[in-house]
Amino acid sequence: MAERVQALPTLIHDTRTEAGGDAAIAAAVAELARGGLVGLPTETVYGLAADATNPLAVAGIFAAKGRPRFNPLIIHVAGLAAAGDLATFGPAATRLGERFWPGPLTLVLPRREGAGIADLATAGLATVALRVPAHPVAQAVLRAFGRPLAAPSANRSGHVSPTTARHVADDLDGLVALILDAGPAAVGVESTIIGFTGDRPVLLRAGGIAVEDIKAVLGDQVERTAIRTGDAPMSPGMLASHYAPDVPLRLNAFEVLPDESLLAFGLPLPRGGENAVAVEQLSATGDLREAAARLFGALRELERRGAPIAAMPVPERDLGVAINDRLRRAAAPRS
Ligand code: TXA
Ligand code: MG
Repeated sequence: MAERVQALPTLIHDTRTEAGGDAAIAAAVAELARGGLVGLPTETVYGLAADATNPLAVAGIFAAKGRPRFNPLIIHVAGLAAAGDLATFGPAATRLGERFWPGPLTLVLPRREGAGIADLATAGLATVALRVPAHPVAQAVLRAFGRPLAAPSANRSGHVSPTTARHVADDLDGLVALILDAGPAAVGVESTIIGFTGDRPVLLRAGGIAVEDIKAVLGDQVERTAIRTGDAPMSPGMLASHYAPDVPLRLNAFEVLPDESLLAFGLPLPRGGENAVAVEQLSATGDLREAAARLFGALRELERRGAPIAAMPVPERDLGVAINDRLRRAAAPRS
């Protein structure tokens, strides 16, 4: 992309040392204030953050990721009050925000005029996607910066999302000024996205909060249809091929073919598993939360091994819904 101009070495700041923490956050805030990009840890995946009120900074996100401009960004704020400045909340959206924020939930709501969010960040839509991340480093940066942050996942567009600072550097080295390293992301899949723009709430993306838990708050009235298909996306980023490693992936594998790698979920391994090129076990005990936390790291590791991936089935419940959504997109034909 012509706009890929930065090409400076990326600095990785470890936030886990006591002294490093404050200095790293100050460096990130300075970078954001000058319109730069920061690799930001959240509890779901690492984000590529920029000042959401600065159009040039937001343009930098699209350029660095190679992201199509029709695909809007999630705006991150420190709390429900700040979210209310940017969008109008009905009673159901308020209930979800009160229950799950801070946390892995994104709400798509009618955007407030004149709130200062760059039009490019919302791709010119009349709606805005809002999230309050729970990660203490993300919270510290949001509070110190004092403005909303646009932040998509910090991968090159279409690739597997990053769950470590190393993953961010592998995809965006030289394109992001600095990355705050806070270790592996705890949740491991992106936020659940709920849209509040029609008559009924719609699940736009399965994610880190189980649909079952959303339904427990909203009653049974969450429309689930939008997430499955890639063809008529209600959420512009819900393209069929996404989260894709650079090697083919085969779903619901009950055997491993010669020269395949295995993405395992539970034991025993399927027939041929002992001869797999490589095995990444998402959870030997079949724990879906552990599996979600390991998913993207495992895909990146198997991609590095170069062989096509056979993926064992994962149950379609709890975080398994988000895991299967990502695996289906990883397996979809590439455009
Ligand atoms: O967990 C997460 O949500 C991570 C972390 C960094 O917060 N972020 C993330 O952002 O996954 P991204 O850009 O990779 O995915 C955002 C999704 C896209 O599918 C986009 O189309 C959708 O949110 N989206 C954003 N604004 C929208 C809107 N106004 N209406 C419908 N969908 C929207
Ligand atoms: Mg993404």
